[in-house]
Amino acid sequence: MTIPSARPTKRYRILLTGVSGQLGWELRRALMPLGDLVCTAGPDMTLRGTETLDLADAEATRDFVRRVAPDLIVNPAAYTRVDNAEDEAPLARAINAVAPAVLAEEAARCGALMVHYSTDYVFDGQASRPYSENYPPSPVSVYGQTKLDGELAIQASGVPHLVLRTSWMYGCRGNNFPLTILRIAGRQGEVRVVDDQTGSPTWARQVAEATAQVLAQARQLGRPWLEERSGVYHLTAAGSTTWFGFARAILQHVEGPARTAKLVPIPTSDFPTRAARPTYSVLDCGKLAATFQVALSPWEEQLARVMEELNMPPGRAPGA
Ligand SMILES: NC(=O)c1ccc[n+]([C@@H]2O[C@H](COP(=O)([O-])OP(=O)(O)OC[C@H]3O[C@@H](n4cnc5c(N)ncnc54)[C@H](OP(=O)(O)O)[C@@H]3O)[C@@H](O)[C@H]2O)c1
Repeated sequence: MTIPSARPTKRYRILLTGVSGQLGWELRRALMPLGDLVCTAGPDMTLRGTETLDLADAEATRDFVRRVAPDLIVNPAAYTRVDNAEDEAPLARAINAVAPAVLAEEAARCGALMVHYSTDYVFDGQASRPYSENYPPSPVSVYGQTKLDGELAIQASGVPHLVLRTSWMYGCRGNNFPLTILRIAGRQGEVRVVDDQTGSPTWARQVAEATAQVLAQARQLGRPWLEERSGVYHLTAAGSTTWFGFARAILQHVEGPARTAKLVPIPTSDFPTRAARPTYSVLDCGKLAATFQVALSPWEEQLARVMEELNMPPGRAPGA
């Protein structure tokens, strides 16, 4: 069937940041069919087929975008060390707030679209039902504040954009909760896990694939179609749990000593961290589903797929 409003599809020239990160890694693969990728990683990383771009350097970032002249910028890179950000606020601000502002300004200047990722940590966690995009943000950490400032800068730039807020993200690689729990549970007989913070664990690959689905529609239907839908969207797995519930589900998928580790639910007050975290940060993803017909599966299903990949025999790399 031919869609009447369909136009000839154009390959994007895509500037993708943070390809060494959990989400950037997945985006590199998910976006490949949509265009020609210029991939960048941070200054401490050398990866094949990737250029170095230090997003903490605003002028280098500006020059880089001008040189590449993309028609789409996808920016999963961020300062993501939530606790360290309390002590490194200037660096977190440079990467999470100033860099997105520069990318957005330059995208507007060269006529590009921009996709950016933000976080459930823009909310203070005082709600008791899922947050919609209209709910006023009120971050309780430096990380959350710098991410919110990045969002606001993109909105102020006038660039056609999608700011996709996700939460509790993990995958088969990188620093994340499941891999940490598996490591600790395999080593220790007892694991104490916070049971009074509620959120939606979300697989990075599903976020990447959902992004690609939306962009494929935009490529088909044209720039004005996306411009009309420019804005902030929530994009997480369906359902919610606590960190304790997430840990329990993770260990149900493994064999060996980790499976029998004793999980102990504890309150946040028994696990003090440098940065405060929202008690409740479940996001309502209805706007994304209504606008783009894109919705992610329940978190338990996503976890089952990741655990299946992690349990693959040696030689079959996760995600290969
Ligand atoms: N992880 C979560 O639970 C979570 C939850 C909600 C929202 N988010 C958001 O989702 C996005 C992706 O998160 P993620 O978990 O994939 O992050 P991640 O795994 O920590 O990756 C962050 C990426 O940013 C890059 N980066 C850091 N400093 C940089 C610099 N100065 N210049 C250039 N690149 C730099 C890192 O590169 P190097 O490896 O070279 O340092 C890395 O590729 C972020 O915007 C994050 O705020 C994450």
